Amino acid sequence: MIPAGTIEVWTIGLDGLSEDGGRAGPAPDAVPRAWIALLDPDETERCCRLRRLRDRLAFAAAHALLRLVLGKALNLPPAAPVLTRDRNGKPVLAAPTGTGLHFNLSHTDGMAAAALSSVGPVGVDVEAVDRPGDLDDALIAFALTPSEASALTGLSETARAEAFFAAWTAREAVAKADGRGLSLPFTSISLDRDGRGATITAPATVRRWRLWRHHPSARHRLALAGAETFGPGAEPALGALTITPRDGYALTLKRWSPWP
Ligand SMILES: CC(C)(COP(=O)(O)OP(=O)(O)OC[C@H]1O[C@@H](n2cnc3c(N)ncnc32)[C@H](O)[C@@H]1OP(=O)(O)O)[C@@H](O)C(=O)NCCC(=O)NCCS
Repeated sequence: MIPAGTIEVWTIGLDGLSEDGGRAGPAPDAVPRAWIALLDPDETERCCRLRRLRDRLAFAAAHALLRLVLGKALNLPPAAPVLTRDRNGKPVLAAPTGTGLHFNLSHTDGMAAAALSSVGPVGVDVEAVDRPGDLDDALIAFALTPSEASALTGLSETARAEAFFAAWTAREAVAKADGRGLSLPFTSISLDRDGRGATITAPATVRRWRLWRHHPSARHRLALAGAETFGPGAEPALGALTITPRDGYALTLKRWSPWP
């Protein structure tokens, strides 16, 4: 089990896969068997349905990562935890029961992340920010308040993408911690000015969340939302898995460091 009162976040970068010595290795040309072996039949089928290899790699890496860290936390083989979804579609643990363990995962082009918490629900979102073409008016109106949207005017493309994804990842992490995901109107999530907290103001629920941010790579931004009861001043622990290409793209625990 992870220690009481802990939130852990794990990431896997898929862009520059490196050998142990740090030399860049080739990216896989199919989802490695070692990753597929960690998935359950439903996850495998969903992975196979994705058309682009990059999406299949990120999906499989995320679900393999989740099973590895859940298994480690529960002291079980990765395949043993039985996952199901709640009525909002949020993945939850069906067995073993009574663990008090919460988790969430996110995947995007080139990066996968999984969060575990023993202090209540948790939500994580990771996004690649080097896609300014995606930022159309409809998406901005969905994700940002009018004043946040007008603050984008006049910014360079890079600064605009940074500002947009800072708000997007924070709101998506909160929506996923809450469990309603994209069905929660994003502008009902009010972000604190200092970026360290958020309040869901509607519908019906007013709830505070703590927020943390991380840059897991030059082009990726991650936000994590956790219970406000997580001790004041406490920081989540950050772990990373790396992929060793010459070893059948084995997933290896590489780094365990304090939140940056
Ligand atoms: C969750 C959601 C915000 C995903 O956002 P995204 O940027 O596309 O993807 P991310 O990689 O960040 O997160 C996806 C993961 O969030 C998790 N997730 C799905 N629904 C979730 C929810 N309601 N709350 C929290 N997490 C959720 C899943 O693990 C999912 O990964 P998977 O599809 O590979 O199993 C969005 O799809 C959503 O709101 N879904 C709920 C509504 C819905 O479509 N339900 C369908 C019924 S299954």
